Amino acid sequence: MQFKEVEKMVDGIPYISKTNAYFLYDFIIKNNIQNVLELGIAHGTATCYMAAALDEGGRGHIDAVDLLSVKDHFKPSAQEQLCKTGLEKYVSIYRMKTGYNWFLHDEILRNTSDGACRQKYDLCVIDGPKNWTIDSSAFFLVDKLLKNGGYIIFDDLNWTYADANKKRETTDGIAHKDLSEDELLRPHIRDIFEFLVMQHPNYSHFTFFSDNQWAMAQKTDEQEIYKKKAVVYDPIFDLNKKYFFAKSFSHLLEKIEDLQKENKRYLVYGFGSVGKLLWSLMPNSIVGFIDQNFQNICDGMVYGMKQGLALEYDLIIVSVLGREEQICQELIERHQIDKKKIVILEIE
Ligand SMILES: C[S@@+](CC[C@H](N)C(=O)[O-])C[C@H]1O[C@@H](n2cnc3c(N)ncnc32)[C@H](O)[C@@H]1O
Repeated sequence: MQFKEVEKMVDGIPYISKTNAYFLYDFIIKNNIQNVLELGIAHGTATCYMAAALDEGGRGHIDAVDLLSVKDHFKPSAQEQLCKTGLEKYVSIYRMKTGYNWFLHDEILRNTSDGACRQKYDLCVIDGPKNWTIDSSAFFLVDKLLKNGGYIIFDDLNWTYADANKKRETTDGIAHKDLSEDELLRPHIRDIFEFLVMQHPNYSHFTFFSDNQWAMAQKTDEQEIYKKKAVVYDPIFDLNKKYFFAKSFSHLLEKIEDLQKENKRYLVYGFGSVGKLLWSLMPNSIVGFIDQNFQNICDGMVYGMKQGLALEYDLIIVSVLGREEQICQELIERHQIDKKKIVILEIE
């Protein structure tokens, strides 16, 4: 099922943002994820997005686990949403009396033979009570069932009981008043991710999402240090960066065309990529370049500051993007260049 189709059917139902829903959907398809474990399902909105992604390949399964006590609490329910979308066949819902850790207990039992536990999941999303005791245990239990190369996603990285306390007295059966000051203030899931997942020898490729709530890790038996580096995934930036690059680039080209039309002699400050672009687009208008690195550049057109400024020119173009202010200051204050003779490539 296409993303737009499932999106239309579960629109407005919490608890997953469109951005994260799209990430999950796309991630499942691109990584050929087959077996998913979702811990904490509420209305089953994330479940529907994941099932829709499985449906694109026509195979795969989600084990979705929540508390028995909230069976009739969420309206619409996960069952209703799965029925509405027609994606029930991809999902088994498990409702547990004491929570998902006992489901994990049962799964480890079911999958153990000859003293070893079969790893069956490609992806696990942990989105439950956000509690150190419950979710730290969940991580180590999930680890037994997660395949090498599989992924684990945690929601609510920065959630705290102290924040929740402003709205209610208990969260998922835990009375806030029974917690210590420290337990109220510290983000339990972040502590689990940083101290248990990131320090675990078999987890790497850490991704922190720009919503500050999601974090993902991959289970792997490779232990090279560089794989331990964390990255930030910013889907909005990812989608927009090509667009912004194209926009800035065409703006730069327009600016260069305008300079060409002026029919002046230009001295260019900087022989980097923009300097070279100017050279290739208006070679007849450029009298030379100034570059700090001129001694290492074997090109008769590139000079040091003193020699460059001694050339005959009408205007100096500053082609070092990002350092314009500093360069202008140097030209004006140290070399007494008239401000009107300096051109900056202002790019949006
Ligand atoms: C934020 S909701 C999940 C939202 C869902 N993953 C989504 O994105 O659409 C959290 C869920 O975790 C469930 N939960 C809390 N503690 C739990 C536990 N110990 N075991 C199982 N489920 C739990 C709650 O009942 C609730 O449905």
